[in-house]
Amino acid sequence: MDNSKTTTLLLFMFLFTLLLTTSLSKDLCHKDDKKTLLKIKKSLNNPYTIISWDPKDDCCSWVSIECGDATVNHRVTSLDISNDELSAQIPPEVGDLPYLQTLIFRKLPNLTGEIQPTIAKLKYLSFLWLSWTNLTGPVPAFLSQLKNLEYINLSFNDLSGSIPSSLSLLPKLGFLELSRNKLTGPIPESFGSFQGQVPDLFLSHNQLSGSIPKSLGKLDIYRIDLSRNKLQGDASMLFGANKTTWSIDLSRNMFQFDLSKVKVAKTVNQLDLNHNGITGNIPVQWTELSLQSFNVSYNRLCGRIPKGGDLQRFDSYAYLHNKCLCGAPLQSCK
Ligand SMILES: *[C@@H]1O[C@H](CO)[C@@H](O)[C@H](O)[C@H]1NC(C)=O
Ligand SMILES: *[C@@H]1O[C@H](CO)[C@@H](O)[C@H](O)[C@H]1NC(C)=O
Ligand SMILES: *[C@@H]1O[C@H](CO)[C@@H](O)[C@H](O)[C@H]1NC(C)=O
Ligand SMILES: *[C@@H]1O[C@H](CO)[C@@H](O)[C@H](O)[C@H]1NC(C)=O
Ligand SMILES: *[C@@H]1O[C@H](CO)[C@@H](O)[C@H](O)[C@H]1NC(C)=O
Repeated sequence: MDNSKTTTLLLFMFLFTLLLTTSLSKDLCHKDDKKTLLKIKKSLNNPYTIISWDPKDDCCSWVSIECGDATVNHRVTSLDISNDELSAQIPPEVGDLPYLQTLIFRKLPNLTGEIQPTIAKLKYLSFLWLSWTNLTGPVPAFLSQLKNLEYINLSFNDLSGSIPSSLSLLPKLGFLELSRNKLTGPIPESFGSFQGQVPDLFLSHNQLSGSIPKSLGKLDIYRIDLSRNKLQGDASMLFGANKTTWSIDLSRNMFQFDLSKVKVAKTVNQLDLNHNGITGNIPVQWTELSLQSFNVSYNRLCGRIPKGGDLQRFDSYAYLHNKCLCGAPLQSCK
């Protein structure tokens, strides 16, 4: 290699390295977002999980943070703080991350206070997961203004009050999980007519009462879990041969209805009705189901357990403590 070629090569390498280092050191983070995040860190009392957030670094490279691409100017789109012993409330500054799509506070036992009202400003929010914290107060009705919400999971908290009926107005909601709180009152009548698709509903382990609105019978809910509440009356409208339901858990309520004519969709895979006041017999149609889990124990059922399908695959514990059920896997009928 002659001298001029070597010089040219070295020059190119130099320029390339320069280009690489300048592009790497370029701060993608929007300065407003960085300022806001540093305030959040302070409000949360500099918790261990995000102790490494350094104002000198690009906030898009910080742990617990994701930024969008150039189309949104690399604004912060995700904040996920989980598994920490931090003692604080949700900082009001989370409302000042205007491009946030995902907000997760999970497994923070000493996160207390109400669900921060400034979250109402996050108009792009699609994924809200606040679980295993000690949040109190209501499920806020302002959530229904956040039209991009697809996933709401507020399970394992100390939320109280009733379920806001306006949640049915969310056009993109696919999952509503409010289980393991202290919610009271009825399932809103409005849940019979969701604006958009019908979300999977997980409302178990609360103190919900009253009867299920009749209007829910029109819905084709894929997964519904109402277990461990104080619901009563008829629940037969949740079933239906023409639906595409996959799981129904009504266990440990006070439902009372006649099972004899209830047709279950062939798609149903999990069916738990234990601990209610359900009467009648188990329909023969149920032998056509492919069931992975099944439990009708502790009801007031009577008559012969139909033979066939998956119904004999479950042991007697799935059928015990009824009024007068008989036939395999229980004692044979007299
Ligand atoms: C969390 O709160 C409990 C009860 O208030 C308290 O006893 C405990 O010390 C707190 N833990 C931390 C890490 O602050
Ligand atoms: C909420 O706090 C109480 C005591 O302050 C504690 O016993 C409980 O474990 C906390 N809840 C969660 C979900 O960590
Ligand atoms: C909601 O969060 C809880 C607790 O982290 C989790 O077990 C559950 O699967 C979540 N529900 C949905 C629908 O994702
Ligand atoms: C279920 O579908 C069948 C066939 O499409 C129809 O004849 C029947 O009326 C439907 N039943 C109900 C309860 O909608
Ligand atoms: C059915 O539920 C009862 C009551 O909770 C429980 O004891 C039993 O183990 C369950 N059986 C099956 C097969 O899940």
